Amino acid sequence: MAISTYSEVVAQPLTQTELKRLVARAALDYVVPGEVLGVGTGSTVDQLIDQLPEIRDRIPACVSSSERSTKRLEALGFKVLDMNAVESVGVYIDGADEIDSGFAMVKGGGGALTREKIVASVAKKFVCIADASKKVDVLGRFPLPVEVIPMAAGAVRRRLEALGAEVKLRDFITDNGCRILDAAGLSISDPKVLESEINSWPGVVTVGLFAHRGADVLLLGTAEGVKTFRPE
Ligand code: 5RP
Repeated sequence: MAISTYSEVVAQPLTQTELKRLVARAALDYVVPGEVLGVGTGSTVDQLIDQLPEIRDRIPACVSSSERSTKRLEALGFKVLDMNAVESVGVYIDGADEIDSGFAMVKGGGGALTREKIVASVAKKFVCIADASKKVDVLGRFPLPVEVIPMAAGAVRRRLEALGAEVKLRDFITDNGCRILDAAGLSISDPKVLESEINSWPGVVTVGLFAHRGADVLLLGTAEGVKTFRPE
């Protein structure tokens, strides 16, 4: 008879991908039957999309925040509506690059920030799915993405540098034909004020701060399982 060694019987910690799959699975419970589902973008959302066929009968159609998610959804047979055909979505499920205790987020690591913000703006509920590494006390450890009209990249870069950021132009064209500046080194103590400020600059399409419309529910994948948080 084979005898198990200690290392074989002790549970291995979950990988980041497994944590993403777990939180994505927990998010299925938030899908509102019969209502259009808002689908975000990123590796955590990919895990969600892969599990959506299990609840296909609850989802008449989706709106998507990127060409990437649209392709994945359509490949699985889901109907993806143009955003202009939709007044609201029952729930919008998306990941984040960072989320603070007030449920403000930095998003846009995958470059889909503007479409994400548009879909989030018509969502009755925003469910953020993230692994535990994304929860922070103060936003800013992750470089803040800012989508810009190409001709404004230089002017917006100088404004971000004046705030103390180290700025890089991402080698990437967004689904909207625009560019992204990644602003590192900001400590964002008042996300709503900074969101309004950067969004007011000429040439900014949107900043990847989601503070005015933050998350309503956070599903966090931790070593102890999925934890659910709601703003106080
Ligand atoms: C894409 C995003 C994503 O939600 C964010 O980058 C998190 O991605 P991931 O789930 O891959 O960590 O904002 O623009």
